[in-house]
Amino acid sequence: MILVTGGTGLIGAHLLLSLTETNDRVRAIFRTESSQNKTRNLFKLYNKSHLFEKIEWVEADINDIELLDIAFAKITHVYHCAALVSFDPRAELKLRKINIEGTANIVNFCLYHKVEKLCYVSSIAALGDAKTEGDLITESTEWNAEKLHSDYAITKHGAEIEVWRGEQEGLNVVIVNPSIVLGPGFWDSGSGEIFSNVEKGLKYYTLGMAAFIAVTDVVEQMIALMKSDISGKRFILSAENISYRDLINWIADTLKKPRPTIEAKKWMTNIAWRLDALKTTLFGGRRHLTKITAQSLHSKTLYSNKAITEATSVTFIPIKDYLKKFKKKES
Ligand SMILES: NC(=O)c1ccc[n+]([C@@H]2O[C@H](COP(=O)([O-])OP(=O)(O)OC[C@H]3O[C@@H](n4cnc5c(N)ncnc54)[C@H](OP(=O)(O)O)[C@@H]3O)[C@@H](O)[C@H]2O)c1
Repeated sequence: MILVTGGTGLIGAHLLLSLTETNDRVRAIFRTESSQNKTRNLFKLYNKSHLFEKIEWVEADINDIELLDIAFAKITHVYHCAALVSFDPRAELKLRKINIEGTANIVNFCLYHKVEKLCYVSSIAALGDAKTEGDLITESTEWNAEKLHSDYAITKHGAEIEVWRGEQEGLNVVIVNPSIVLGPGFWDSGSGEIFSNVEKGLKYYTLGMAAFIAVTDVVEQMIALMKSDISGKRFILSAENISYRDLINWIADTLKKPRPTIEAKKWMTNIAWRLDALKTTLFGGRRHLTKITAQSLHSKTLYSNKAITEATSVTFIPIKDYLKKFKKKES
């Protein structure tokens, strides 16, 4: 039986959609009914509510050993998608607890239950650092501890170390490192916020470049790697490197909103993240822009997808084409 963690998030919910198409036995963990409902709504968005009923839901937290023990009964394959995705500097301890310690727990349960294979969803944030801006980053680019990394990146890197430790102890593992994942249904968090901001009439763009991929391509490759004989490797999952300006323009076209017209210069985003920090210090609430995310909007960080295209002969859907057939926000 398959176990999915993070099935109430963007990637995990899409993975459950794909897995339930072809498998009768899929178990997913959830923490709250409200987040479980997000997955239910996603199935509805794709007109696949009947498949939602095929999921066996078990209440569990990856930091709760007793509940995890119940979730792991009779499990043969694990997709570990659960993580805290946050760039808020105040979230450091929580990031360490969920991303590193939580992944160590999953690895230990996989070993204890003699699970046949684990697919861990890491991130491009856990990869190494380009020596010069614009160099293509690959799976073997080295991590430079002297460079500034977000706590999120450090904890995803630390989580990978736990997965490699599991491999050393005899577990079959494959790691995927998706770039920025675009997909519908989760409008208030992660990349979903880009869509919500454009929907609200975003006026600004930046000239930085980053790597993007459709969520459907991510889950297809996870399943392909899980079914393959490939083990002990990690793969960057990324369709293409594009500018934020292009991305935002294409999203605006999809949502039939005006394209942003004002270039946000570095000095403007520098002021913006400081104001955001001040606002949340005084009034609380979630950080929307941090020093590191503001810097990334102007940098050109490019990734190679050569390893995965050679391993599985995949061709990824170009982002512009994916956005044309995008499932829009339900009104
Ligand atoms: N989205 C991207 O652009 C992107 C890019 C690269 C890599 N990734 C990685 O892909 C994975 C999935 O990302 P996503 O975008 O789907 O994230 P997401 O939408 O924020 O979902 C995160 C999931 O993790 C679960 N979770 C968090 N803490 C947990 C805990 N202590 N115990 C059990 N479950 C917990 C959440 O459950 P609740 O609903 O209960 O909170 C949710 O199901 C993550 O590992 C992330 O690092 C994402």
